[in-house]
Amino acid sequence: MTGSGEREGERQIQSLLSCIVERYGFDFRNYAQASIRRRIQGVLSSERLDNVAALEERVLSDPIAFQRFVHGISVSVTSMFRDPSFYLKFRRLVVPMLATYPFIRLWHAGCATGEEVYSIAVLLHEEGLYDRTRIYATDLDAISIEQAKQGIFPLSRMREYSAAYVDSGGSESLSRYYTADRENALFRSFLKENIVFAQHNLVCDSSFNEFHVVLCRNVLIYFNNELRERVLALLHDSLVNFGVLAIGSKESLRFSNIEFCYTQLDSTEKIYKRVM
Ligand SMILES: C[S@@+](CC[C@H](N)C(=O)[O-])C[C@H]1O[C@@H](n2cnc3c(N)ncnc32)[C@H](O)[C@@H]1O
Repeated sequence: MTGSGEREGERQIQSLLSCIVERYGFDFRNYAQASIRRRIQGVLSSERLDNVAALEERVLSDPIAFQRFVHGISVSVTSMFRDPSFYLKFRRLVVPMLATYPFIRLWHAGCATGEEVYSIAVLLHEEGLYDRTRIYATDLDAISIEQAKQGIFPLSRMREYSAAYVDSGGSESLSRYYTADRENALFRSFLKENIVFAQHNLVCDSSFNEFHVVLCRNVLIYFNNELRERVLALLHDSLVNFGVLAIGSKESLRFSNIEFCYTQLDSTEKIYKRVM
């Protein structure tokens, strides 16, 4: 593409993102640039459109096309017991703290299609804490949230998930928690009983409760520094004192404005405890 073609492409992207803020209140302008450009290219091809101006027209006039756009922009890659060592550390370092509370509120921010949420529900069940826990699982992507509510995952991935479950310290067989049909694993309904799934946008919605644990793993990596700080402040405001924050192994609170309000419980899995 020529220099002027590139500039025009960039102008169209900025126009698209600004119009989306005005029309829907969703603000993607501070997402990491390279990633958002790549995702928009992906949406163009799945919508069979050849330029961003046409995409703008479509998403502004059709809320369902906008939902598809959000789904296309969101990187919803996830898996059950993702990074099993995180769950091992959670069992060892966080569960004993949670056991001291009469009631536990946990927030999964950016839960995608829910695999991580069912994983933590299984873990809390095995640790005898699930009955007194309420899990709030949120994502900005309505399509992912609908999938998460179902608790249905491809049977073809269960072998991989079972191995991760064992590595995460699981004491049973994962198959105990689902029934299978020809293609899918349907997670048992008792695991859903204490979970509230809802759409929530970390960029523009505010804090909605005080939590003992906030898990926001593999989400901040898609934001630029300014947005990352803003979202970290929101997560901080959503935690009780001595509450636990986990942001995923690729992230860190180092050099952030809230760094000094936390002690590190685990440096590899980036599990922190709020101390002020
Ligand atoms: C890579 S997935 C991470 C899923 C899960 N936490 C995990 O670690 O497996 C990133 C998720 O962040 C969500 N996300 C991105 N921007 C968001 C925002 N502004 N508010 C809420 N969720 C957001 C995406 O929709 C996507 O589902």
